Amino acid sequence: MRETQCPSESWCDSFTMADQVPSIELGNGGNMPYIGLGTFKTKDCEMRESLRVALECGYRHVDTATFYQNEDAIGEVLQEWLASGKVTREEVFITTKLPRIGNRAGDVARFLQKSLEKLRVSYVDLYLFHHPVGAIGKDDDDLSPVDSEGNSINDPDTDLESVWKAIEEQVDAGRARNIGLSNFNIVQIERILKVCRIRPANLQVEVHAYHQQRDLRALCHKHGISVCAFGPLGAPYMADGAGERPVLLEHPKVVSIANRLARTPAQVLLRFLIQLGMAVIPKSSNPDRIRQNFQVFDFELSTEDMSSLEDLDCGKEGKIFTMEFSKSHPECPF
Ligand code: A2P
Repeated sequence: MRETQCPSESWCDSFTMADQVPSIELGNGGNMPYIGLGTFKTKDCEMRESLRVALECGYRHVDTATFYQNEDAIGEVLQEWLASGKVTREEVFITTKLPRIGNRAGDVARFLQKSLEKLRVSYVDLYLFHHPVGAIGKDDDDLSPVDSEGNSINDPDTDLESVWKAIEEQVDAGRARNIGLSNFNIVQIERILKVCRIRPANLQVEVHAYHQQRDLRALCHKHGISVCAFGPLGAPYMADGAGERPVLLEHPKVVSIANRLARTPAQVLLRFLIQLGMAVIPKSSNPDRIRQNFQVFDFELSTEDMSSLEDLDCGKEGKIFTMEFSKSHPECPF
């Protein structure tokens, strides 16, 4: 991994502006732009418009997953943009993910093929192993299987190593340029590193000022695995997880830095993570906020502001996505 234009001097060794959007160069080719459009919980009707706005204002990275059920809408807009020549396929970085009900070696190629058909592309730039806790669906559309009491029907036999090998085959087959992990912990990443033929190029995990994941990021840095932060604004729509703390976007320290720099709290939180060397995928369905979130490359946080934001870390307590469904599974990463 090498940053083609890195906003943090301490993090990388080279500064060039390869594209309009500063990006992280991944091991197997392609550059992952530091900022992408997050799409978790974005429904089809909003998805089309959000992606059009994002592409218009310069985003060249979109993050989705089979689980989000919006790949069709994304594919429709991508097709529009590719067919009109406004972008080429090489200019857009597309990530999607294997659903938990596909956590078996024999299921991987089928699920990725379905994603490609929905996205209307022949390959994705990054295919992620979405979650180490597998589930048993009654069919390929049963993405959140639950029993009569509402408990997730997990698959206790999820074998991370064999699923990873099947994911590696997707690179061989030309369906994925890069492959990576999501929601994996340090021990699980090390297990994959022991058996892999193709190393994970990226780890996508929850990271924001309340939950900075220092150990996990250090491990990734040591092994040349780039990190992409989901929930970078502290996922205000998951308010229940925040406990007694103020919503991150309203934290007085964040607001005060934003006011002093004439920026918004969201821009400060995103810039903070980018300066720590991570890609970020803020989710928004609001055109003004989509535009605002992209304007994070024309200012810099001082060392003092960085350390003041670093002090907001609450460690494990800062985690907002509790993922209760995974708690009883032997591969629960949390
Ligand atoms: P909306 O879609 O209405 O803009 P995260 O990326 O951390 O998961 O946070 C996403 C949430 O934050 C969404 O609810 C989104 O709402 C909201 N959001 C996204 N961008 C901004 C922004 N610039 N300012 C305030 N809220 C934002």
